[in-house]
Amino acid sequence: MAKVDQTGAEDWQGERGDHWLRDMDKFESMLEPLGLALLERAAPLPGDRIVDIGCGGGWTSRKAAADVLPTGSVRGIDIAPMLVDEATSRARGIANVAFTCADAGEGDVPGAPFDRMISRLGVMFFADPTSAFARLRGLLRIGGQLDWAVWAPPEDNPWMSGARKIAAKHVELAPPDLSAPGPFALSDPERLAGLLTQAGFTDVDIVSWNGKQAVGGQGSTPEHAADFAMTAFSFSDAMLEIGPDARSAIRSDLVAYYAGYYCAGVLAVPAKAWLVQARSGS
Ligand SMILES: C[S@@+](CC[C@H](N)C(=O)[O-])C[C@H]1O[C@@H](n2cnc3c(N)ncnc32)[C@H](O)[C@@H]1O
Repeated sequence: MAKVDQTGAEDWQGERGDHWLRDMDKFESMLEPLGLALLERAAPLPGDRIVDIGCGGGWTSRKAAADVLPTGSVRGIDIAPMLVDEATSRARGIANVAFTCADAGEGDVPGAPFDRMISRLGVMFFADPTSAFARLRGLLRIGGQLDWAVWAPPEDNPWMSGARKIAAKHVELAPPDLSAPGPFALSDPERLAGLLTQAGFTDVDIVSWNGKQAVGGQGSTPEHAADFAMTAFSFSDAMLEIGPDARSAIRSDLVAYYAGYYCAGVLAVPAKAWLVQARSGS
């Protein structure tokens, strides 16, 4: 039976969180260009107090903490305990950053209300985005600024969706459900703007970021990318349920696929995200 195609809070607290931790350096190296674009647009100022939603290993939290010195600070929130432990360890020695393990869509966050909210790909996993976004608005002071990065639709992200299509030729995968919690849950910008407005945000402004992904991290090859896709993407669970022949067929198809994007020793597969900005209304 094909597994339901969604990634929610409990997945991050379990296997997804373990996978992200294991491959954190690879993910963070892949996502660095998007993180830099997000922070450039957010342009945090010295003294800002920032909350970073779904902060994972805390890359954006640490970067933003440097921007808000000397008096500002960053609080990273993540639902996955193993990622919060890692974020805390990676930020050792940085006095103005701290982390809390919590569901950002529920409950209290120490230090709220904040001046700013940032998130690189940490807000697409709420089972009920309407109520979670209203809760997130409450974490910002009135007029406080939100800056998020979320993935655009799968067809604009062949670095991930192309690999999934290849896997689906060999193994039964549930059809993608773009409204379920998961990487593409906020990929429709009209729906996203509607959800934010409904939650009481104003001045919603969504622009596109078009970049390239070195699948598996900077310096990756088609072989590394294939191995990474098979073990780190959301469909990788299905790889555990198939035999060695099917696995090896998927791997060779993936190597050939990524080879099409490999030139002069650089793997660069197109990627597209939305950079979302809004303000907390009164
Ligand atoms: C795709 S990862 C991004 C991690 C990090 N922002 C980065 O860019 O490296 C998504 C993160 O969101 C977190 N997350 C998912 N649902 C959450 C929730 N309800 N509350 C807080 N964090 C959540 C996951 O645990 C995971 O660390």
